[in-house]
Amino acid sequence: MNKKPVLLIPRKLSTNTERRAALNYDVRLNPADNVFSPQELLEKCRDVDAVLPCHSEHFTADLVSKLSDRVKIIANHSVGVDHCDLSALKARGIVVTNTPDVLSDATAEIAMLLLLGAARRASEGDRMMRTGTWQHWSPSFMVGTQVTGKRIGIVGMGRVGQVMAKRARGFDMEVHYYNRSRLAADQEQGAIYHDDLDSLLSVSQFLSLHCPATPETTGFLTSDKIDLMPDGAIIVNTARGALINEAALISALKSGKIASAGLDVFCTEPGGNPEFATVENIFMLPHIGSATMETRDAMGFRALDNLDAYFSGQEPGDRVA
Ligand code: DGY
Repeated sequence: MNKKPVLLIPRKLSTNTERRAALNYDVRLNPADNVFSPQELLEKCRDVDAVLPCHSEHFTADLVSKLSDRVKIIANHSVGVDHCDLSALKARGIVVTNTPDVLSDATAEIAMLLLLGAARRASEGDRMMRTGTWQHWSPSFMVGTQVTGKRIGIVGMGRVGQVMAKRARGFDMEVHYYNRSRLAADQEQGAIYHDDLDSLLSVSQFLSLHCPATPETTGFLTSDKIDLMPDGAIIVNTARGALINEAALISALKSGKIASAGLDVFCTEPGGNPEFATVENIFMLPHIGSATMETRDAMGFRALDNLDAYFSGQEPGDRVA
């Protein structure tokens, strides 16, 4: 009987995922769920055929250059692959996959939660209730921004962006988008395409980011770009913190140019940006866009589908390198 491939799973995944993984692989788990240092990750990878990491494991060019020849595939438990140096992995002949589709609903739910929470000042209200500081009520108290019927600009109209557009339509929002290419009419569903980012920004009363962090998109939301947006706009980010220049966002939030922001992702993770904590008009969550039981199982299973395909000699469905 053939020996099972050895699979390193560096983070604690859903019970169903870990159970299924054990059926076909000789699994090395990390029950403590601590993040390995680059050196620890290299060592753990020494005697394995495959790795099923999350976005918390950084396969930098340096790490990849030292990776054991035995590692044949990195089957990511994430749709984003900015933690992997794809060209370095490709050069080493290591296959890389991700988990698209399965987290679109969960991520769009969190984007909508952030959008509503930012517009209606949810974190301020919650804080007030928890600290016992709700002392008066008046018609001018905690007035926020109405969502219904407003224009939303979506940057990146991939799978998550399209679900977000659908949810926004539920609030009668007028959907505009910027994408590398225009979608077919059946995917557009009436959304208005902008072939220029500046044009999208200039109409976006709400802006929701759904594009990957790449060298082209990193830091694209600068103060110059923010200045193009309507006064009092609201920015939501569930994609990657690296898309936004955080200092520019903080200054726009302080000046009132941007009324409020809803953020699930940050340039520094975990931890976020301590300066954000000093700004009242931000609603923040700790990178939990895909954190539902259903989606965790679906992400784990999708990563295992990719591994199963690879080890049975087929092309994995979600190969990105
Ligand atoms: C993703 O899949 O990229 C999410 O950010 C969780 O890792």
